[in-house]
Amino acid sequence: NQNDKGVKQLVDNGIETVPKKYILPPSERPDINNSEHPNVAKQNLQLPIIDFSDLFGPNRPQVIQSLANACEQFGFFQVVNHGISEDVMNKMMDVSGRFFDLPIEERGKYMTSDMRAAVRYGTSFSQTKDKVLCWRDFLKLICHPLPHYLPHWPDSPLDFRKVAATYAEETKHLFIRLMESILESLGIVEDNQEVKDNILKELEDGSQLMAVNFYPPCPQPDLTLGMPPHSDYGFLTLLLQDDVEGLQIQFQEQWFTVQPINNAFVVNIGDHLEIFSNGKYKSVLHRVVVNSSKRRRSIASLHSISFNGTVRPSPKLIDEANPKRYADTDFETFLAYISTKETKRKSFLESRK
Ligand code: SIN
Ligand code: FE2
Repeated sequence: NQNDKGVKQLVDNGIETVPKKYILPPSERPDINNSEHPNVAKQNLQLPIIDFSDLFGPNRPQVIQSLANACEQFGFFQVVNHGISEDVMNKMMDVSGRFFDLPIEERGKYMTSDMRAAVRYGTSFSQTKDKVLCWRDFLKLICHPLPHYLPHWPDSPLDFRKVAATYAEETKHLFIRLMESILESLGIVEDNQEVKDNILKELEDGSQLMAVNFYPPCPQPDLTLGMPPHSDYGFLTLLLQDDVEGLQIQFQEQWFTVQPINNAFVVNIGDHLEIFSNGKYKSVLHRVVVNSSKRRRSIASLHSISFNGTVRPSPKLIDEANPKRYADTDFETFLAYISTKETKRKSFLESRK
């Protein structure tokens, strides 16, 4: 069945209409050509921009405050001047593109239903659960600990491992630096170096998953999505997107397109940080729309505690005025419970209160 080989293969074979199994019910379609529809992103939202380099200068207190506002109001922000070189970012985008250019026989070697596989090539969002498939192919790489997983990563293109390993290490480092500032923005580490070090150590040893996404042009983009509305499970996701629009976030019950900024990372709060912050920061719904003329690529780096760890609200954020809002929950149970359906995630979080 050629559909099982993903959407790039369909497009490479010259498909002119969207096959039935990708067609969403009318109420879930993005309807991008009908500007009256509530499912349509109407305006562009100016997401907060955090200048990372300012975090380490005299303006740090103000930038921490901007970071707190961004996390509380949007759950999303873009980071510029983050210290990862253009060269590292461009090479990662480029080698990912060349991976997707390989013959399907080569890419298909990594197709597996084993969610724990070091490398997994696939299509849609959650292939086993999706009733309707999504217009996306992906390559997922488990990244931490790197020396353990790297030998399993694709060795074609020849420079793939080297480029992706550097990128993974640098995004992990940026994640830790961002978390250091986010902990400060939550007010839980002020004078307590030891608390901070313990949390950061746990995150250093934590999980990292990289999803390389490929959205080929879609002949009928009104009928389908590149990714359905979802939130991310971890602490933070660091996303590199190319210059093609597609990512949309929900803000005040409306969809907004995230404008690509050259060399910036789009950062968003995940479910685990929502729990850790005792609900002060919330994970936010986002989705991906596709278009009929341009392929889009993105690379998401998802960071959290280790896969066998437990997520719990920080004791520092629990007091009389702020009772504990989430029960402790181990990563495995959490992943098994959440699904593509947002309602299910919310009911899970509710049930853990
Ligand atoms: C996501 O990882 O949810 C979004 C990825 C993208 O913008 O392509
Ligand atoms: Fe996501």
